[in-house]
Amino acid sequence: MSRFVSSMRPLLMAAAPSAARAARPVFARHLAAAAAAAAKPAELSAAKLEITKTTKPKTPLPHNELVFGRSFSDHMIVVEWDQQTGWSTPKITPYGKLQLDPSCTVFHYGVECFEGMKAYKDKAGKIRLFRPDMNMARLNRSALRLAMPSFDQKELTEIIKKFVKLEEKWIPQEKGYSLYLRPTMIATQPSLGVGPSSRAMLFVIASPVGPYFKSGFTAVSLLAQSSYLRAWPGGTGDAKVGGNYAPTIMPQVEANKKGYQQILWLFGPNDELTEVGTMNCFVYWVNEQGEKELVTPPLDGTILPGVTRDSILGLTRKWGEFKVSERKLTMAEIVKASNEKRLLEMFGAGTACIVSPIKAIHYQDKDLVVPLDPANPTAQAGPLTKRINETILGIQYGEIPSEWSVVAE
Ligand SMILES: Cc1ncc(COP(=O)(O)O)c(C=O)c1O
Repeated sequence: MSRFVSSMRPLLMAAAPSAARAARPVFARHLAAAAAAAAKPAELSAAKLEITKTTKPKTPLPHNELVFGRSFSDHMIVVEWDQQTGWSTPKITPYGKLQLDPSCTVFHYGVECFEGMKAYKDKAGKIRLFRPDMNMARLNRSALRLAMPSFDQKELTEIIKKFVKLEEKWIPQEKGYSLYLRPTMIATQPSLGVGPSSRAMLFVIASPVGPYFKSGFTAVSLLAQSSYLRAWPGGTGDAKVGGNYAPTIMPQVEANKKGYQQILWLFGPNDELTEVGTMNCFVYWVNEQGEKELVTPPLDGTILPGVTRDSILGLTRKWGEFKVSERKLTMAEIVKASNEKRLLEMFGAGTACIVSPIKAIHYQDKDLVVPLDPANPTAQAGPLTKRINETILGIQYGEIPSEWSVVAE
């Protein structure tokens, strides 16, 4: 700002006193604009990244001992945001504890959102991300839903690329293994008022993970749930906010006690299918018009727009071998299709597993059997479920060329 004033001075001095007076409002306007520019909150910038490497590197666990989300890599990304100053210098620091004021908004009102994505190592040793732009866009949408700040998606992707390269030893190379990444944003204003947080922290931690199904698929049994709801119109079902998950844990424990692995979340008077556990839901059947059709519930605000969901829709539409629909599905339709032997396959879809085949649904005191592979009575997944899994896996590990697989260079 002072540089601006001094650059303007000769100009003003040279002008006649009356002209200088007339110029004053213009000058004042310039000054105000310069002040505003100087005070503009900083954008997130990968160019500013500072890296402090750990002095105590850990040894990754042997692959057969990996448990999802239990062990973490050596470093983490941390970047703070302040309403006045914007995004601070992004840092990669040794993985460690966060020090936060106990009054921080996140601890009281759950102002938190997160992402789940993976880094894969291909046969040539290249590190790949799968559609990171979709995770970044979703994190921004989730943050905005909680009145938290947005960030430049490309910049965070660049920072994550640098991070996964630094954490290379933590990415197992075998197919099915990966480094699970958990970008998270929390509201850190030290205040108990319910309102938009003037401070936030964005961090990314990483956990090496093995395949969801270690020895081939294991189909799951679902408990259809309409007493507890995961999401509702006008709620936050389409955002990846922590507040969506905490209330699902108790019903999930109850379902497990009854012998079901996952909940099929229903909604509304017609028991519409919404999601399976923390996965999007797909039904493959012969519809009432006699056409083969893959159906998933539409993004009506209650469904998380899954990256895997979008990829499955994109792939199968490209194959063009059967009808692919995003539309509401009711349990009555599923029961009817099952009775009429039109139900072919059902599966959940998400980053953790890609696809999770479904073998049964407990609904209204009855167990409805979902077919797996009619050609193979011992199979744990149907042919379409398997094909989708193999195709996405192939893309993630760079074996099938696709713009969805982004190399961290
Ligand atoms: C509620 C919910 N639905 C669906 C998904 C699947 O989303 P994605 O394919 O992006 O992992 C997830 C996992 O992130 C989820 O938590």
